[in-house]
Order: sequence, then structure tokens, then C-alpha cells
Amino acid sequence: MDDKNAGGPSAFVTGWPIKHSRSPLIHGHWLKCYGLSGGYERVATEPNAFVNFITHLNQSGFIGGNVTLPHKETTFQCADVSTPTAERLKAANTVWLHDGQLHADNTDGYGFLANLDQTLPGWDTTDRLHRPCLILGAGGASRAIVDALSNRGFSKIVLANRTLARAETLLDEIAPTGTAISLNDTQKMLGEAGVIVNTTSMGMDGNGLPILMDGIYPKALVTDIVYTPLTTPFLRAAAAQNIETVDGLGMLLHQAVPGFERWFGVRPKVGSELRQLIVNDLKRPQT
Ligand code: ATR
Repeated sequence: MDDKNAGGPSAFVTGWPIKHSRSPLIHGHWLKCYGLSGGYERVATEPNAFVNFITHLNQSGFIGGNVTLPHKETTFQCADVSTPTAERLKAANTVWLHDGQLHADNTDGYGFLANLDQTLPGWDTTDRLHRPCLILGAGGASRAIVDALSNRGFSKIVLANRTLARAETLLDEIAPTGTAISLNDTQKMLGEAGVIVNTTSMGMDGNGLPILMDGIYPKALVTDIVYTPLTTPFLRAAAAQNIETVDGLGMLLHQAVPGFERWFGVRPKVGSELRQLIVNDLKRPQT
């Protein structure tokens, strides 16, 4: 065992690749803010080494950490104890050791809702709850968001995806009363939907979704989980119609909160200083 715990608890973020993860900046900021001793570091783990890494955490001196792509499903499978959320999603992004057992949670859905709750308190109005909730994309992030929105009381989930079968499978597993539609049919839902979420990777590097915001319900809320760029073409088009919008950076910041509290014992606040720190980092040329 190495000596990581000599300076306080030590946590990690692992993925493949992991070079561009902002998690060390987020947790490093909080450790400094709260005057805590401890560490948080990136660990690149290639797929064939992952099971060994995650099942031998105690031997690396870590008390827990975050897991990102492509390891979230394997993490859930390796955990001794999972939260109900991780059980539903069959994927985990946050782990910790307790009494020698590996515990796993999935905080993506929590981060999604907490971002909206903090940025636009009262966003989940009765009007919006009763309208269709339109989610674009059916990958891992969508799974967590569909689950979170269903649990918040959005009962009319409409999931639009390029590959229809993938949306159908996701709904079967997570929100069986929802409706799957093709991405090409999204336009027809815009006049009705109270909340619209983009979880597809479209919007990164300026490529927008093929959706026009004309005719959108005027009191809709539009949000995107893409945060590079911060204002995606999707959000820009909605804002041009005077629609309320929330960008995706807050989800990244808020999903980190439960893990930090577990490992370091303080529930951290997501404040403007932290947000600015990450915004500044996003502007740096990527190597
Ligand atoms: P994650 O797990 O990070 O959410 P993912 O599993 O790679 O990401 O899923 C990405 C989502 O973006 C999917 O819904 C994907 O649609 P398909 O299921 O049809 O592949 C969607 N997506 C990616 N590129 C797209 C494109 N060019 N047009 C439409 N949808 C796209």
C-alpha cells in the first residue's frame, strides 16, 4: 500500500481517457476552500485493467473516487453495495470504501436536478410537470436524467433518439410509461413540451441539433448537458425565442457534491467562484 492517506483522505477520478477531466479542479477547489487535508487525482485506467483497479482500491490507498466513461457499468457490477439509484441505472460514477466493502452511487441525475434547482428555483412548476417532458438522446446521461425527471414527478416522458430502438429499450428499463419517438419527429413536440433537454453529443464544437425553435411553447425550459461550448447552438436558438435556458456546466459541478461529502466529510457548495474557475479552464487551449 502506498502512503496516500498520510496527508488526509485521497480520492481519484478514473476513466479512459481521463486527461481532460475537470474533476480534479473541482475537488481541489473545495479542499482548498474548506481548508481540508486530502487529495484528489486523475488515474487513467484502460479497460482491461479496470476490474483489478476498482476491486483493489484499498491497496492503492484511496478511500473512493469518481468513475467516468467507459467504466460506469463495470463499476456497478463490481460494487458490493449499490444505492437504489445505481441499481436502477446499472451504472455508477461515485464509489467509496466502507468496512472494506465497495459502495457505489450514481450522482448524474442528482447533479442534473440540483443544477436546475439552484439556477432556477421553482423551475418544476405544475404547468411544466403536467406537460410532456422532451429528452433528446438515449445514452448513459439520458438514462440518469430520465430517471431523475421521472422521480421528480414528470410523468409524460417523451424520449427522442436517432436510433429509435435505443430509446425504447431505455424507457422499458427506466420509465415504462414514457413514449419513444424518432429524433426526426422532435419538431412536432415543441409546441407542447414544458421541459426540453438535450443529452446528445450534438452541440459540441458548434454543431447544432437539426431542430428549429419556431413554435416552441413560450413557457418551456430548455437545457443542454453539453458545456463545451457553454452556450450551445440549441440553447442559443431557444434564448432567441425568449425561452428560459440553463447550460450544462452546473450538472458537472453538482454531480461532484455527494462524492466530496462522502470522502472528505463536508457538503460543499457550488458557488460562482468554482463555476468561474471551470469556465476559465474551458477557455484554455486543449492539448
Ligand atoms: P453518453 O453515454 O455520454 O450519454 P452515448 O451513449 O454516446 O453518450 O450517446 C450519445 C447520444 O447522442 C445518443 O443518443 C446518440 O444517438 P444514437 O443512440 O442514435 O447513436 C446521440 N447522437 C450522437 N451523435 C448524433 C448525431 N450526429 N445525430 C443524432 N444523434 C446523435
